Amino acid sequence: HEEKTKVKNIQVIEMGRWEVDTWYYSPYPDEYARESKLYICQFCLKYMKKKKTLLRHRAKCTLRHPPGDEIYRHQKGVCGTAQERPLSIFEVDGKKNKVYCQNLCLIAKLFLDHKTLYYDVDPFLFYILTEYDEQGYHIVGYFSKEKHSSEDYNLACILTLPPYQRKGYGRFLIAFSYELSKKEGRVGTPERPLSDLGQVSFRSYWTRVLLDILKEHRGNLSIKDLSTMTAIRSDDVVSTLQSLNLIKYWKGQYIISVTPKIIEEHLKNMSSQPYPEIDPATLHWTPLV
Ligand code: COA
Ligand code: NA
Repeated sequence: HEEKTKVKNIQVIEMGRWEVDTWYYSPYPDEYARESKLYICQFCLKYMKKKKTLLRHRAKCTLRHPPGDEIYRHQKGVCGTAQERPLSIFEVDGKKNKVYCQNLCLIAKLFLDHKTLYYDVDPFLFYILTEYDEQGYHIVGYFSKEKHSSEDYNLACILTLPPYQRKGYGRFLIAFSYELSKKEGRVGTPERPLSDLGQVSFRSYWTRVLLDILKEHRGNLSIKDLSTMTAIRSDDVVSTLQSLNLIKYWKGQYIISVTPKIIEEHLKNMSSQPYPEIDPATLHWTPLV
């Protein structure tokens, strides 16, 4: 947590059509960190000090999508709103596309006050969420995932770029991380610590997924059943149900205690923002072995 004490260096980044105020320090190399503004190629994520360098670069850079395989395409954009554009997710290997992934981590750090991964990207896969238009596949956010986690981690770091935040993309990425875990036949949990925003986003995802199941389901369900159905690790299931007051601990066991009325009450209190559902049948992905 050494980075937390460091003073914010870069104040603004320009990337694609966005100019974005940064939130935290990020360890760009000194000669870049001395600038207050960086210019970033929205496709290859190369960072530059001068607008004119970016313009020269843009004329040469041929990349129009993240450098990896498109493993998922979602024809309808997020939320069914007017800005609706097709979404795609690309899988990028930290070892094969080291510089791209390092540049991505440097950007992510601008919006995170604790994570410390920037340069050692080899052990990670990166799942990049993009929006498509005639110009190409524009990065909206991403999450990273260890290739081999000994601790059930299915997500290391998640970011929605600020211009796209609070529109449901974070939830889409989180849902996707659990779809990958389902394909692996494993349960997963995000790496800790989570930021405050990470915490609210995961808690909201877990709550909605569990309430939706409890609403539809007839008969008894155990914590293990819920965990298997959702790929949400048991302790996250328990803490979510606890926060909703839907669980009792009795004679050494957790007992889920719900009525349709209580579920309805909770669902009524949740935001009604529609979310794009992930269709697992069109996810083209096989787990690493
Ligand atoms: N204040 C209150 N609630 C917020 C919030 C905010 N600033 N941002 C998100 N939420 C809630 C939303 O209301 C939503 O819950 P709901 O459906 O119950 O309303 C839920 O979190 C997910 O929102 P969504 O729009 O899908 O998330 P997002 O695209 O804004 O992305 C993060 C969420 C965490 C990825 C984003 O805030 C981010 O990139 N933060 C910086 C990096 C970070 O902290 N990452 C997590 C630690 S690794
Ligand atoms: Na600076």
